[in-house]
Amino acid sequence: MTPIHAPFPAARFRRLRRTAALRDLVAEERLSAKDLIWPVFVTDVPGADVEVTSMPGVTRRTVDGTIRAAEEAARLGIPAICLFPFTDPSLRTDACEEAWNPRNITNRTIRAIKAAVPEIAVMTDIALDPYNANGHDGLVRDGVILNDETVECLVRMALAQAEAGADILGPSDMMDGRIGAIRVGLEQAGHKDVAILSYAAKYASAFYGPFRDAVGASGALKGDKKTYQMNPANRDEALRLVARDLSEGADMVMVKPGMPYLDICRDVKDAFGAPTFAYQVSGEYAMLKGAILNGWVREEVILESLMAFRRAGCDGVLTYFAPEVARSLGA
Ligand code: PBG
Repeated sequence: MTPIHAPFPAARFRRLRRTAALRDLVAEERLSAKDLIWPVFVTDVPGADVEVTSMPGVTRRTVDGTIRAAEEAARLGIPAICLFPFTDPSLRTDACEEAWNPRNITNRTIRAIKAAVPEIAVMTDIALDPYNANGHDGLVRDGVILNDETVECLVRMALAQAEAGADILGPSDMMDGRIGAIRVGLEQAGHKDVAILSYAAKYASAFYGPFRDAVGASGALKGDKKTYQMNPANRDEALRLVARDLSEGADMVMVKPGMPYLDICRDVKDAFGAPTFAYQVSGEYAMLKGAILNGWVREEVILESLMAFRRAGCDGVLTYFAPEVARSLGA
């Protein structure tokens, strides 16, 4: 592209900024409810369906409450919701068996949504942390997170979710080889049309703090996730991970967190052109929401932050703001 413009005053960039109509006409990007995936926390622990302290406005929901969220998403034009379980602490073990229980809270919720609101795409999370006594995404032995043994668990978990009717599986665990293993497992079990949105470039981030509160993993977590999640210093590695996951059978890829990693979003979109998503994670939500509630910034920061993802090349964004944004866009 060769930008050509006349010298001032023949060129005056402000001409096209003069009115809302003109600004709209030449807007390079648009944001719509259809670009959003709404992450929802589901639980059947009595009394746990309350607001998450570090995420004002975000409430854990019962299965019925999650169906109502799916109905609201459908009404608002949001195409997908993503389920995250708050598991009963008594079901969290070192072997994580609850993760692939066909009747666990996630799988029951998938079935309930598919029965009640079949038009909504249901996305899930594949990682062991909500079921793990020690809060890690993988099995732990002698303080080490085991890769290959964890991948076997993740395949079981994926198959149980596919069996329950999930449309999109989201492996967020960052084990090596999991996309290929899950894809082979799905094909062999006849789930050939289940999509995988790989959390391909997921960084070890303190921005996940409020999420860990929401799923009840904060207290349990021993140590950190730096042996499997990415070092925030790395850019080339993100591209190698995305290439690897696409070549193993991921249909879509994700960069996570979102706002501090927009450069990675742009790199990934430019390098591969695959459907690319970003996760505006819990800590980003908490920062924006906290500042809005304090009157320190105006609510417009939400739309501005989401437009930034579109500008960075993302096809869509997972955001806890999804319903309020969809409402404000008048979908
Ligand atoms: C679990 C998982 C996490 C998030 C999504 N899936 C937390 C983590 O890796 O510790 C974070 C989402 C958010 O912060 O909003 N594997």
